[in-house]
Amino acid sequence: MQNKPIGVFDSGVGGLTCVKELRKLLPNEDIIYFGDTGRVPYGNRSNQTINKYARQDADFLISKNVKAIIAACGTVSSVATSLGDSLNVFYTGVLKPTAKAAVKATKNGKIAVIGTTATIKSGSYEREIMSIHPEINIITQDCPLFVPLVENGFVDNNNQITRLTVEHYLKNIKLSGADTLILGCTHYPIIKHIIRDYMGDNVTLIDSGSATAEYCAGYLSDNNMLNNKESAGTAEFYVSDTTEGFSMLAGLFLNEKVSNNVYHIDIGALAAKK
Ligand code: DGL
Repeated sequence: MQNKPIGVFDSGVGGLTCVKELRKLLPNEDIIYFGDTGRVPYGNRSNQTINKYARQDADFLISKNVKAIIAACGTVSSVATSLGDSLNVFYTGVLKPTAKAAVKATKNGKIAVIGTTATIKSGSYEREIMSIHPEINIITQDCPLFVPLVENGFVDNNNQITRLTVEHYLKNIKLSGADTLILGCTHYPIIKHIIRDYMGDNVTLIDSGSATAEYCAGYLSDNNMLNNKESAGTAEFYVSDTTEGFSMLAGLFLNEKVSNNVYHIDIGALAAKK
């Protein structure tokens, strides 16, 4: 069982922030990634649609015989809250590990959360943080333009459109005096350098993708579920739209060649066959 791959999914390239950290922490693990690039963004869809997509994404990974599933997606983690109940493999979303890391990091008890509209509307981070520490002061902001900017590759440090958008969404958070900022959507760490520039060095940025990878690595290790092969782990990437754009962005972000191992699937047709 432990030599099976780890399955990771997101609506697009965002979940790669989790994959990048997983590959660093667990270099022998095989990873199967699904990015639902044909249906991104999830964050401004209805709860019913997000639940349906999340189920189909998890079913696809189950069909790949994975030992664990990570919903590396703040939106799915916030809205499809019972997804893990029906899966018979280890499952985690990003919410708990990220909230825990933020509570640990804050010194002044003020945490800001940014995420997709669905994530912020769900109140998931407030609930999760309050359950750990009821005294924390929380400020939230949805940033619906960040995901399309990232998916379209507007990630360069000098990109003026992205810089202005960051300023637009983060102005009030900067004024709030929060010392910790949760990047509650896994796409956001891809523009972390721009967010960092705007917020300054005194604010700790919590990357939901990497906090979740750390949690998952700890769980697999504690439960004797780590791959015991000596060779380097492999990665396969599946997307529901064209492979080219994904390969380019993924290669850039992961700092490795991603092209021979990217495959297209028709997620809707696969779900209909079930
Ligand atoms: N990366 C996802 C998240 O963490 C999804 C963003 C989207 O599709 O809107 O919320």
